[in-house]
Amino acid sequence: MTDIVVPGNALVVLLGPAGSGKSTFARRWFSETEVVSSDRCRAMIADSEMDISVSARAFALFNDILRHRLEIGRLAVADSTALTTLARRDLRTTARRAGAPVVVVALDVSLRTCTARDAARERIVGEQVVARHVALLRDALRALPREGYQAWHRLREEEIDDAVVRVEGRRPPVPVTPEMQEAYVREPWRRVSR
Ligand code: UTP
Ligand code: MG
Repeated sequence: MTDIVVPGNALVVLLGPAGSGKSTFARRWFSETEVVSSDRCRAMIADSEMDISVSARAFALFNDILRHRLEIGRLAVADSTALTTLARRDLRTTARRAGAPVVVVALDVSLRTCTARDAARERIVGEQVVARHVALLRDALRALPREGYQAWHRLREEEIDDAVVRVEGRRPPVPVTPEMQEAYVREPWRRVSR
């Protein structure tokens, strides 16, 4: 069993090909608001998770949301493929600027499995894309040890279901105080002060 310990203020970087189960893993172990998905960011901007014409905007938004969470000490889970050196560098930069540790969880799932799952779902990216992703995964797994993370974990296909994620010191949501309620009534536009 793989024990994945995550500091409560960390950036968790999920890494893996399309269809490897990143979003499924995120849903299983983290709350909806902790997970920031690059595909969802595309949809939030252009109504489609597949509209790659807005990828630059989507990744700007993705990084911004991650940054805001990390800057106020909240756990953030980056749900994107994170397969390229550049994508991981951007994520490390975001975390470093916020003073947050980075924990990488790489889902090492075979081309065969990813392709089969991809073909069976609604948003199909296709075998060519999945094959390219799997090749990038091999490079990423070689690069991870030198990229300077607080921790990184490689979960092989058969290890994913047995892995356990343990978040240590997760900040609870700020409780609403009477002062906050009063300020909200008086000056609703001045809610963002941190
Ligand atoms: P995900 O949608 O979780 O994959 O699973 P992903 O890595 O996030 O893919 P991208 O990068 O966003 O494209 C893909 C499909 O595989 C199923 C899920 O239900 C989904 O339909 N799945 C996932 C399984 O059948 N078993 C698993 O263990 C994980
Ligand atoms: Mg996904």
